[in-house]
Amino acid sequence: MIRGKFITLEGGEGVGKTTNLAFIKSCLEQYKVTVTLTREPGGTELAEKLRQLLLNKDGEAISEQAELLMIFAARAQHIKHVIEPALAKGNWVLCDRFTDATYAYQGGGRNINRCSIEWLENLVQKKLKPDLTILLDAPIEIGLARAKKRANLDRFESEKTIFFEQVRQSYLFQAAQYPERIKLIKADQPLTLVQNELAEIIETFF
Ligand code: TMP
Repeated sequence: MIRGKFITLEGGEGVGKTTNLAFIKSCLEQYKVTVTLTREPGGTELAEKLRQLLLNKDGEAISEQAELLMIFAARAQHIKHVIEPALAKGNWVLCDRFTDATYAYQGGGRNINRCSIEWLENLVQKKLKPDLTILLDAPIEIGLARAKKRANLDRFESEKTIFFEQVRQSYLFQAAQYPERIKLIKADQPLTLVQNELAEIIETFF
């Protein structure tokens, strides 16, 4: 059995991940691969419970370290029970966010040092890294205006503007560090142009 590929989609709030995730899935399926669509934090029963705790803005304040550890606890479950088994049976895994989000949100947004994140990444993921990452990037005012149209803002969406600016800059830093893996798309252009670029990236990847 040939191991599947691991593809992740990243971006700040309101950049259009949900719409484009469905589009990427349909592009992949044109190449006759079986796609396992999943998300982080989440993807298993326990990881989805951790997600609820992470996104809930009521109740006890979550420390930055607790937040980071909850994200990697969810990731450990997700890798063991969903991602690795799917890849092993030849499925392609398409994941809405992964560890680049941790470098952006916890590293950039919360100012947690990179070494701590790298240490947890090595512990939890061992050799597992995405084969391809697509980063949707837009100025934060555009993304936030879209995100704020939704009814209830979660704990991350309720952060201050500076937090989102740091998240965006960290994502761009990651993209500059790993240009082979991370493909950057401007998300503030018409959807048809975004999707033309997505289709091209997928075609080149195959
Ligand atoms: P979503 O908006 O893509 O559903 O993701 C939920 C939130 O989780 C989003 O605001 C970003 C946050 N998050 C982190 O802070 N660190 C992570 O490693 C991941 C995967 C998500």
